[in-house]
Amino acid sequence: MCTNKISHGNPIRGRLNSWLFHILDGYSQFIYKNHKKQLFNDLPEVLVEIGPGTGANIPYLKKGTQLIAIEPNTYMHKCLHKKANKYAVNLEIKNCGAENMKIKSNSVDAVISTLTLCTILEETKALNEIRRILKPGGKFFFVEHVAAKKGSFLHLIQRLVKRPWFWFFEGCHTHKDITKSIRESGFSEIRMEAFNLYSPFVPIIPQIKGYALK
Ligand SMILES: C[S@@+](CC[C@H](N)C(=O)[O-])C[C@H]1O[C@@H](n2cnc3c(N)ncnc32)[C@H](O)[C@@H]1O
Repeated sequence: MCTNKISHGNPIRGRLNSWLFHILDGYSQFIYKNHKKQLFNDLPEVLVEIGPGTGANIPYLKKGTQLIAIEPNTYMHKCLHKKANKYAVNLEIKNCGAENMKIKSNSVDAVISTLTLCTILEETKALNEIRRILKPGGKFFFVEHVAAKKGSFLHLIQRLVKRPWFWFFEGCHTHKDITKSIRESGFSEIRMEAFNLYSPFVPIIPQIKGYALK
């Protein structure tokens, strides 16, 4: 049981987001497939995912994987269970935030996150927590959307839509400097690549992918 104070989803927007992620699942697979296949190609059989939403990453896990899902938004849980059943993944949901996971230190081989650090208010705390629970030599794999270059057209768009985006996507920040947060989070080695993911969701075109080694 996790007790930290985080949002468990607005009754309307929580349901709406769950539905939206669910119906956009096929499109998300289409645009992320190559990135995720490359990044998640050799994940261990027991792993932690922070903010899995409706289970966008479950298709990339091996059958029989034990997935500990840190998902505070209870409106995502039903779809998450369905997806795990469909792909024969053993799911344990922890209804808490990544800032305080109640998982033993030095106990997991891998943590994954896609498009989640943007939504975590204190992402530095979450990164410290990820590092704490990883075994020495364990890896944190991530795909995140990030701030565009200051002064660029994309950065202007990110700033313009910041408030409605934050409201609708329940705390998603369009232009957090997640690259810097990961670089400064105390991991021993970081492999990170910046890329543009073109889609109608213009504010999240600039992205990073890679892993951080404890
Ligand atoms: C933009 S969605 C991404 C969902 C999924 N990872 C994907 O790639 O489609 C962000 C997710 O982070 C979750 N989230 C929000 N605050 C969180 C927190 N403090 N700790 C962990 N997850 C959180 C949200 O409930 C949501 O499921």
